[in-house]
Amino acid sequence: MKNRINDIKLKFKAIFGSDEGLRFFAAPGRVNLIGEHIDYCGGYVFPAALTLDNVVAIRKNGTSGTVNLAATDLEGIYSFDLNDIEKARDLKWGNYQAGVIKELIKKGCKVEGIDMLFDGTIPFGSGLSSSASIELATGIAVSTLFGGNFDNIELALMGQSAENNFCDVNCGIMDQFASGMGKENHAIMLNCGTLEYKYVPLDLGDNVLILANTCKKHALGASKYNERRHEVEVGLSVMQEAEKASGVNASDVKNALCEYTPDDFEKYSAAFTDNIIKNRVQHVIYENDRVKKAVSVLEAGDLQGFGKLMREANQSIRYLYEATGDELDAMYDAAENFDGCIGSRMCGGGFGGCTVNIVNRHRIDDFK
Ligand code: GLA
Repeated sequence: MKNRINDIKLKFKAIFGSDEGLRFFAAPGRVNLIGEHIDYCGGYVFPAALTLDNVVAIRKNGTSGTVNLAATDLEGIYSFDLNDIEKARDLKWGNYQAGVIKELIKKGCKVEGIDMLFDGTIPFGSGLSSSASIELATGIAVSTLFGGNFDNIELALMGQSAENNFCDVNCGIMDQFASGMGKENHAIMLNCGTLEYKYVPLDLGDNVLILANTCKKHALGASKYNERRHEVEVGLSVMQEAEKASGVNASDVKNALCEYTPDDFEKYSAAFTDNIIKNRVQHVIYENDRVKKAVSVLEAGDLQGFGKLMREANQSIRYLYEATGDELDAMYDAAENFDGCIGSRMCGGGFGGCTVNIVNRHRIDDFK
């Protein structure tokens, strides 16, 4: 880390002319172990922070409103003015940072001109939340410099808001929460409906986690992500109408898909006229149930049981939610047929990105 910080410092000086008053902040990427595409339905998710991260070097630049952004792996400086943040929507790079800064200002943070240099180790588009990590690193760095007194959950919510309202990705809270609240050697069981959470020790015994990158970028905005969100909204209204039709008072119907149990789904499944919507809803409701089971089997030390649920989760998102694709499916099938792999599944938004695998530590090279 020391060498990395030194390198960043040198680069900062080369780009911005001086490193006086320079400070460093960082935020990690995440892997989600189980619970996919249900954070925006009020479901449980089970992510863990990674050692892959974004480090940002930052200093005030003495101007009232010029924000200069650079990255160690990009040419050039991307700038915008705090008095016209909207313009930063069009930046080729830097809109996540601008969106977060806009949120901070909205919450009363008195931001002035800054120079920032980002150094990221999370492969972009790999489904490991490089954008949430940029959002959290920006939030922590800028709010610390300008006396904003926010905890990491507030910063996570601001990151999500930035992504929803400034970057046009209608994501849930999982990635930002995991980046802001991750803890070494633990995963977080998070209820995305209430933001209640608990840390669960990630004891994999003789196994390791391997992230296998398909190198197909998942490009959330352009992908089917927002379409899936729309489909589950339609699905929620079908469930609610079915509840009412069965005699439940309008004021008592459930507000989020993940408040329904698998039994509820089976009870109301005849109400679906569109098979695709029904499949999406089935995935969401059963996946939420799987997360609860997965956390209890893990807490009981049953890694094989956890791996089995991972595989079920993968097949559900593959066939019912249809958020994988040839590359992820090939990667999953290869892992599934490997005898040293306890469990494998796609992870993150899907349509590309990584699989997460639990692999016997003596078989790592064979697995790779
Ligand atoms: C992306 C989104 C998250 C979540 C996952 C799928 O990572 O940013 O909010 O919806 O996809 O589980």
